[in-house]
Amino acid sequence: MLARIASLRSSSPSHGTAKLCRSCLCRHLSTKTHYDETVVYKYASQKIKPVSIGQLLKYRRLPLSAENILDSVSYSQAELPVRLAKRVISFHRLPFIVGTNPHISQVYNRYYEAFDRLHAFAPINDLHSEWEFSRTLEHQTQLLIDVIPEIAQGFLECKQYMPREERTAFINDLIRSRIGLRVIGEQHVALSFQFRDEQKAAEQRPDQHAAKSSSTDDVWVGTIHTKLMPARMMEQCAQLVQNMCEMHYGTAPGYYVDGDINETVSYVPSHFEYITCELLKNAFRATVDFSNKSGRSSHPPIQITITKGEGYVGVRIRDQGGGISKQNMRNVFEYSWSSVQETDSADDNGSTGQSMAGMSLQTNLALQQGLGGPIAGLGFGLPMARLYAEYFGGSLDIVSMEGYGCDVFLRLRSIEGSVEDKQI
Ligand SMILES: Nc1ncnc2c1ncn2[C@@H]1O[C@H](COP(=O)(O)OP(=O)(O)O)[C@@H](O)[C@H]1O
Ligand SMILES: [Mg+2]
Repeated sequence: MLARIASLRSSSPSHGTAKLCRSCLCRHLSTKTHYDETVVYKYASQKIKPVSIGQLLKYRRLPLSAENILDSVSYSQAELPVRLAKRVISFHRLPFIVGTNPHISQVYNRYYEAFDRLHAFAPINDLHSEWEFSRTLEHQTQLLIDVIPEIAQGFLECKQYMPREERTAFINDLIRSRIGLRVIGEQHVALSFQFRDEQKAAEQRPDQHAAKSSSTDDVWVGTIHTKLMPARMMEQCAQLVQNMCEMHYGTAPGYYVDGDINETVSYVPSHFEYITCELLKNAFRATVDFSNKSGRSSHPPIQITITKGEGYVGVRIRDQGGGISKQNMRNVFEYSWSSVQETDSADDNGSTGQSMAGMSLQTNLALQQGLGGPIAGLGFGLPMARLYAEYFGGSLDIVSMEGYGCDVFLRLRSIEGSVEDKQI
């Protein structure tokens, strides 16, 4: 019954196989052992089969059956190794010196491992194997979620070795594919748990099981929360970022949430959280920085306003952090561009580079780990937040009043209903 194919495990990096790679580009990426590329190339040559959000949501009606779960896993099992293999190969095309960067190399190893673990499962036809696969998928997805600060740090260190357009294209492809991988993977994992929960509930209270479709659990469809309250999420994120800010700078502005605070939207909470935490980190940091520069006696609070439109939710984050100069505005959506950087006054984007609170960049990075990475300094916050917002048809815009502050406008489309045709 166990699904793993032992013979294929020999290609696992953790098993230290001595098979040689076909290209030196692959060798520089696999720092510890050599991977067998043949299998990766075989998978990478297959076409991606996009899935629509509507298809992923088709199991929204409870209860789930064993057929539903096996149907869902068969898509994940066929599709995810192909997508992972394509990512692995994309790393091989990086300039040699970029591939040797330890952060980039570590991310490559994560992708390779995820591919290696998932492709090694035999075709799944039973619930036991499905459970094994889902646990592996859950673990590997989690490992891939954590790579963003590594990618950001790697490209920060290597940006002079790659033209800006190529770097942007590589990172955009990586992040977009990562969102797709995550949505597909997490959606299946969530359904797998949901199925087991329903089974347990049915065994304990068979009479109530049929009536479950009206229970509060119904707000979740896999990883999508159909009644997400933006005001509550913003409160939680602002609290978290305020703590980060307090820890890092020893002081932090207050905040308040107003507008349509009782509205709900259907969205992936982890995406919502990621985007808004990045925007809040910027607002908190700018406010403290500008207070220091201007010598004002207290920090003006950050205003977070929620609006609800037809099929979307809007969030405006208004700070009095001094705004962004016209010159810097051209760069803020570039990867690896940050006004925190201190080492590169001659970088390719013309950043003047300043050190926050007199600390070195490394100290900043070490001190500031939080959701999605440090409070500032990697230059990934805005470009990634915009990519995430646009992924499901939303938008992210900044209006700056230089010398005063910024208004950041985030618009997210409600996934259920309005984005169901979106192919991922
Ligand atoms: N609300 C804001 N107020 C002032 N400057 C901002 C604001 N948001 C972003 N910026 C500028 O944009 C730059 C890039 O932001 P981001 O991509 O989040 O990277 P990081 O925060 O790591 O520097 C910041 O370094 C900062 O100079
Ligand atoms: Mg930032």
